[in-house]
Amino acid sequence: MAFPHAHLLGIEPLAPGDITTILDLAEEYVVLNRSVTKHGDVLAGLTQINMFFEASTRTQASFELAGKRLGADVMNMAMQASSLKKGETLIDTALTLNAMHPDLLVVRHPQSGAVDLLAQKVRCAVLNAGDGRHEHPTQALLDALTIRRAKGRLHRLSIAICGDIAHSRVARSNILLLGKMENRVRLIGPPTLMPAGIAEFGVEVFDDMRAGLEGVDVVMMLRLQKERMDGGFIPSEREYYHRYGLDAEKLAIAKPDAIVMHPGPMNRGVEIDGEIADDINRSVIQDQVEMGVAVRMAAMDLLAQNLRSRRAA
Ligand code: NCD
Repeated sequence: MAFPHAHLLGIEPLAPGDITTILDLAEEYVVLNRSVTKHGDVLAGLTQINMFFEASTRTQASFELAGKRLGADVMNMAMQASSLKKGETLIDTALTLNAMHPDLLVVRHPQSGAVDLLAQKVRCAVLNAGDGRHEHPTQALLDALTIRRAKGRLHRLSIAICGDIAHSRVARSNILLLGKMENRVRLIGPPTLMPAGIAEFGVEVFDDMRAGLEGVDVVMMLRLQKERMDGGFIPSEREYYHRYGLDAEKLAIAKPDAIVMHPGPMNRGVEIDGEIADDINRSVIQDQVEMGVAVRMAAMDLLAQNLRSRRAA
């Protein structure tokens, strides 16, 4: 089996070889996505349901496009507006879904662990599109593909992840993935936004951008997740920008060819200077979006292969 997992719930259960399998297949989909006729049929006849219990623009669009390009029947369920508000439990949602016979289920949920729980109750392959502060595996995979293409490798790089680490599932998944691939990960942010015990993950922790960015190959900025804060984490956005916002002066401390990343959506002028975000010589933010579609196509292709062989058995 090319990819020995029934679901993609996080980076944690993946072996380095699994990560490489997804990225290598995604490379093929990058080529397909750049061609005139962007269509494959590996998901033909399969039903993909996207359930986003939390707002999303690029991730949901990216999963929808990925499914459609591979020939799946794709349906989006607007979960914020519907059952969650009416108090339906996750178990009821799972039962409803099972009755619809989906093959691929893409879920984003505000609670950490909710997607894992759902995966135990439904009879299809589940992809985690972000659960609370826990994991966002396809984001880390698309970041990895972007880094591998820009730097020519995905090992022995020095990567700084900066900003609101505490509330970020993107940071968690990236720390796990980059660690498994034997990179040096530095976390930079104010102590109030740094989770307790994070150093156990084999990362170096800095509260000063100038110290942390010294000589890094990759600068990954994170959004200040105001919706997950109940006040008091930062003195003011101006002060935050001054100390932790990525501007030309701070970027100059990283390696001269260091790339700048951001998962989006960006708060320009809060965690990143708009000009740096738009600088095509340094910023790979648009590449991240492009790689996102390809990585999601690869992940769904591999999970569908497993699903088919399990059902045939
Ligand atoms: C991230 C998320 O939702 O976790 N965004 C995304 O998936 N593109 C990061 C964020 O919201 O800041």
